[in-house]
Amino acid sequence: MGWLAWQRFRCITNCTLYPDDCISDKLFRTMADLLVSEGYAAVGYNYINIDDCWLSKERGPDGRLQADPERFPYGIKDLAAYVHSKGLNFGIYEDFGNFTCAGYPGVIDNLKLDAETFASWDVDYIKLDGCYAELEQMETGYPEFGLYMNQTGRPMVYSCSWPAYQTEQGIDPNYAVLAEHCNLWRNYDDIQDSYASLRHIIDYFGQKQDNMTPHAGPGHWNDPDMLLIGNYGLSYDQSRMQMAIWAILAAPLFMSVDLRTIRPEHKEILQNTRIIAVNQDPLGIQGQIVYNTSKIEIWTRKITPVQGDQYSYAIAVVSRRDDGYPYRVQVPLRDVGLTNPSGYLVQDLYGDTTENQLLPDDLIDVRVNPSGVVFWRANIVTDLPSVTTI
Ligand code: DGJ
Repeated sequence: MGWLAWQRFRCITNCTLYPDDCISDKLFRTMADLLVSEGYAAVGYNYINIDDCWLSKERGPDGRLQADPERFPYGIKDLAAYVHSKGLNFGIYEDFGNFTCAGYPGVIDNLKLDAETFASWDVDYIKLDGCYAELEQMETGYPEFGLYMNQTGRPMVYSCSWPAYQTEQGIDPNYAVLAEHCNLWRNYDDIQDSYASLRHIIDYFGQKQDNMTPHAGPGHWNDPDMLLIGNYGLSYDQSRMQMAIWAILAAPLFMSVDLRTIRPEHKEILQNTRIIAVNQDPLGIQGQIVYNTSKIEIWTRKITPVQGDQYSYAIAVVSRRDDGYPYRVQVPLRDVGLTNPSGYLVQDLYGDTTENQLLPDDLIDVRVNPSGVVFWRANIVTDLPSVTTI
């Protein structure tokens, strides 16, 4: 969980025109400050990650990568130290090919050197993009870079973009290999600031769920890309939908929003601790779409607590409808896989903390706003063995 620059701040490099928005030391320090002072760090958002456009167009005389000297006048190590001083982790971006997507130097001929450089700057996380790279080299090249990361002795999270480039070419990624070498991986297209883009990604994750969900788990995650919440493209209901589905998908939660100007209602969605608890559930099981009728989808995810083979669940009832009024949905719990004979204590994660007990034949009976969501946590009711007092 953390904050990543790309979706909102892209490759703005003109700091004369846009002093507050350009990819610069100042932007990342400001966001690090706000992550802490506005309470995001306290609920788990503890990475500050740079994306493309931080580099100088040329490597240094020693062949090492260097940051743009104007925009990062103190260098990356100093910025990482600042981020660490706030109790946060620091992530950086590079590209496996000749160039990053925006045309800055890539790592291809310097895999070992660049992994060492990042470790020497006290980086905690590396996203390795895949522009200007040979697809055939990726399945060996990304693991090779990971090996050099490990050889530095510094623990660094490894985010791989190679499957996104494979799917672009119609190739189904080998997720078993990915899970062995990467901590997370971008499966599909870039998210853009619109509901259409959000749905495009959600649909892909639904269609490919049987391929990808078995490979998600602690230490290795599918990544549907950044949270759009708080920007320009999503309505309030659509923002709640993204947060709910990202929790169901056990997705990395990287906000990409201007924390200086975000509205309180968007901040509240991002800081919903009950939804974050679903997202971060220790079992790390990725959820799936299990029902799809009349433009109503139901997504479920198995979560703790567990008894025997019975799980608790997160349940997202998602509307793709646009016919104006909150649509009534009535589906028995059993029909979406909730069969525990003693039932569940159900809570609305966007509502208050009231719990209702429901049995498997009881209905999920809710009204869902157009392009909105109702998001529940259903904790298993356990049959405690009766206690004998002596
Ligand atoms: C493509 C990636 O998928 C994006 O997330 C972003 O990193 C851009 N490249 C940067 O150029």
